[in-house]
Amino acid sequence: MLRRHLLAAALALPGAGRAQAPIVIKFSHVVAPDTPKGKAALRFKALAEARTGGRVRVEVYPDSQLYKDKEEMEALQLGSVQMLAPSLAKFGPLGVKEFEVFDLPFLFKDTEAFRAVTDGPLGAELLRRLEAKGIKGLAYWDNGFQIMSANRPLRQVSDFKGLKMRIQSSKVLDAQMRALGAIPQVMAFSELRQALQTGLVDGTEGVPSNFLTQKIHELQKHMTLSNHGHLAYAVIVNKKFWDGLPADVRAALDGALKEATAYANAIASSENEAALKAIRASGRTRMHMLTPAELEAWREALMPVHQEMRSRLGQATITAAYRAAG
Ligand code: LMR
Repeated sequence: MLRRHLLAAALALPGAGRAQAPIVIKFSHVVAPDTPKGKAALRFKALAEARTGGRVRVEVYPDSQLYKDKEEMEALQLGSVQMLAPSLAKFGPLGVKEFEVFDLPFLFKDTEAFRAVTDGPLGAELLRRLEAKGIKGLAYWDNGFQIMSANRPLRQVSDFKGLKMRIQSSKVLDAQMRALGAIPQVMAFSELRQALQTGLVDGTEGVPSNFLTQKIHELQKHMTLSNHGHLAYAVIVNKKFWDGLPADVRAALDGALKEATAYANAIASSENEAALKAIRASGRTRMHMLTPAELEAWREALMPVHQEMRSRLGQATITAAYRAAG
């Protein structure tokens, strides 16, 4: 009896039982483990668990195993998962539509220009805006430039006419596809492959690492290396969960994320180059490079989207993005 009391008292001590009950972070994402985001999520897990001496366990759920695009945002707000890294093109439905500024066609001339925006005041301000939604934005992870795919060559703007193109939920991407003469179809990433297979859509934009790991190249005969857009992610957490962590644990996780972020940004371009090489080697898909004249025609068709999106994104957001991107 006495022993049982002592045991109960010991268990009630602060910190008791810690080893048995680690803090669990469920990190959900929609792509394959063998992609820049998939690898960076696993890197974060390894660093976070090592640096907290096992006080934190990170469970990474790739491939939309737990939730699809829209559902995972809701799950984060509800606290069913604690961490996500959605594409910046997916924050509109959450009500922080200014993230779609990153989708403006031909906004970034290179990776440095993109990084100048995320690392500057606009990048910080956009993450701050998530707080009103119960979300804390912690970092940006790069995934490089978008290319186009279809079962016909896409070189002239007129080649897009009438094509049903899958897009992420961004209204900027919607306007982009319409400006090319295509018919945009918003769809969760997890549904893309089947939609191409069944003919629900004719083509898509995307990055090589996603095309390769989803085997999109087995379904699309042509890809255009247009680099017209850019794909990147915001690493976000449930704010209440994050703020409620013991300060030393949060500091260790901050450090782990900083390192995972450097890793994500370091591998994005080489991983996508390797994926492109593998797609070429498969011989399933023909790659098209645009001539300077063709590229100019794409620009002419797409640059008006910037003006068209002024009321949605706000002139101040667009100007801040231009200024940082140079
Ligand atoms: C997409 O939906 O095409 C991408 O956002 C998927 C991803 O997370 O890379």
